Amino acid sequence: MTDYINPKLIIDSSKVTDGKIVWRSPSNIALIKYWGKHGRQLPRNPSISLTLDAAYTETVIEYNTNKKKDIDIDLDFFFEGHPNPAFAEKIKKFFLGISDIFPFIKQLKFTIHSENSFPHSSGIASSASSMSALALCLCTLESDLFDTLGNDDEFRKKASFVSRLGSGSACRSVFPHASIWGSTSDIETSSDLFGIPSGNLIHPVFHQFHDDILIVSQGEKAVSSTAGHALMEGNEYAKPRYQQARQRLQRLLIAMKEGDLETFGIITENEALTLHALMMTSNPSYILMRPNSLEMINRIRRFRGDTGHPIYFTLDAGPNIHLLYPDAIAENVRGFIDEELVPLCEDGRIIRDKVGLGPLQI
Ligand code: PMV
Repeated sequence: MTDYINPKLIIDSSKVTDGKIVWRSPSNIALIKYWGKHGRQLPRNPSISLTLDAAYTETVIEYNTNKKKDIDIDLDFFFEGHPNPAFAEKIKKFFLGISDIFPFIKQLKFTIHSENSFPHSSGIASSASSMSALALCLCTLESDLFDTLGNDDEFRKKASFVSRLGSGSACRSVFPHASIWGSTSDIETSSDLFGIPSGNLIHPVFHQFHDDILIVSQGEKAVSSTAGHALMEGNEYAKPRYQQARQRLQRLLIAMKEGDLETFGIITENEALTLHALMMTSNPSYILMRPNSLEMINRIRRFRGDTGHPIYFTLDAGPNIHLLYPDAIAENVRGFIDEELVPLCEDGRIIRDKVGLGPLQI
């Protein structure tokens, strides 16, 4: 089993090592949702997501050997130019947790700057983009110091593995267009340990797909994803849900291979509502959708019924609506979005995003 634990990745103490690494990594939106986990961040069911483009985190890691000797992890963290002690603690914990994979982490002093392309308070989760950006920086650091990560496939596989340990869904952000995470009998190379690229498994129509993120609420979520995953352990629908996700993924993969947008839309919308139904049936139960989330869903379905345009919604673990449609109808749906959906957004906020090519080293 791949675990990437490697005690040999230790820097020769006679060497002075310093440098700077920058990665930009995107967010992703799941179509089949990962909801429920076990062990060291392992998923209860496989998932698939589209890689986004405009919503990304850019992370700069500066490192040198002037590390304080009395602490394990020596890092300063700045978010959008300001010190952020809460995030710093989270990253220290993450670094400590992966110091068996990258032992040299304990030999270096890090200064990390991170920025999101999307507004901080937009209600958009940044864990996928931020954790994958960090993981990519660390893999590049390993590569620069030890020349160990051979080709691009090996590099991304490890970056995905490490991203997963930071935030499960982050492991799907390191590939272009779309990624599958979690073992599924249909795809031999699939794994619970890392995401894999969608490659030729999906029709090119999805390479140009739009995802307009309609910001229903910019506020912080009442229940975090971490707490939500944990509540699945006591949810009486958990077992059939995991089974359902497996079957849906198989059906969705066929639809995505064929470019069958209608089946894609039915499965994607059902999945989003299932995710929220699982929250409502957790104990304690909770609801993250808002009245305007439901109003938007109704309007999207009505517009689709009236016009026949293949425009669909999904949600992540929050109230915001992700509007999915192919590039070919972008002009035809623009008026509907601007007139009927944007007025329901908080402060009229919308992030017009598309499927992207994955992370970029800068
Ligand atoms: O990666 P986490 O722990 O933030 O969980 C993400 C969960 C969902 O966004 C709701 C679904 C998914 O597969 O991304």
